[in-house]
Amino acid sequence: MLTKAPNLLTLQTMLARARAVGCAVGSFAPRYTPVIAPVLRAAQRAASPLIVQISQNEFGWYDVTAAEFAAVFFEQLRSQGISVPVTLHLDHTRDFAVIKDAIAAGFTSVMIDASDKPLEENIAITREVVAYAHAHGVSVEAELGRIGKADQENIETEDDTELYTDPREARRFVDETGVDALAVSVGTVHGVYKVKQARIDFERLAAIRAETSVPLVLHGGSGVPPADIQRAIHLPGGGVTKINIATDLENAFLAALGREKRMLNAECVALAPDEIAPGLDAVQQTVTDKIKTFLQSDGRAQDFGL
Ligand code: 13P
Repeated sequence: MLTKAPNLLTLQTMLARARAVGCAVGSFAPRYTPVIAPVLRAAQRAASPLIVQISQNEFGWYDVTAAEFAAVFFEQLRSQGISVPVTLHLDHTRDFAVIKDAIAAGFTSVMIDASDKPLEENIAITREVVAYAHAHGVSVEAELGRIGKADQENIETEDDTELYTDPREARRFVDETGVDALAVSVGTVHGVYKVKQARIDFERLAAIRAETSVPLVLHGGSGVPPADIQRAIHLPGGGVTKINIATDLENAFLAALGREKRMLNAECVALAPDEIAPGLDAVQQTVTDKIKTFLQSDGRAQDFGL
């Protein structure tokens, strides 16, 4: 159900205000609907702005729909009396139909990921999504360059710079698509860093920043040293404004439950309250740590002027 809560922001508004007050906002992936509650609770207690996200792949992995996820998010906003700035964001999505479902369910931001397509096609697909989403009052993030996975060896070359965002393409991509935020590939990857290590290419980030003023998004936040995150946020001339964090949350959740493998959302919902409680506490603690030491966005909610 849609809510008109004044603290429910589009990504465009969230990131514009974050930049105005000089902070970045964490985009956290609860993955399971019962995990939405401790993520929001951590933000409220730390007085931090926060984005809650789920991706097209995650809908499949956990067998949950956009409508189910959004319903729990809005119910938690109400029942916990959440007053910090929040955005409900659809992460990496390839299919327009999924984007339309999420917008109908009340998501205030969507990401179209056509980054595996040639530039022209990525521009055309992204532009179509922007037209639709903006007509519905919803923001759009898109990706230029490709963000890899941490557990994969590089397939073609000694390093993965061929996947990195080309600063020269960034300006054209943003100008021609009208996106509200740009996900860049500058050295972070998704998942736990086992094979590769996070090595943010700060020069490339600064070069992208010099080409376009659109808010930049850093994916693959799990496992990146906090000092590198702070440097990426506070780069001279402006750095990244949204940082995605998924793996660290799920690992904390499963470890606290003594589980090695992920489960379906329905299995998670069916856990007894005393069984799930340690996992929810672990997620709340992890999100609190990220807000305070990684993002340093604690106490910034009041500066958003809501
Ligand atoms: P991690 O799982 O590495 O935190 O990456 C999250 C992400 O970028 C999702 O888009």
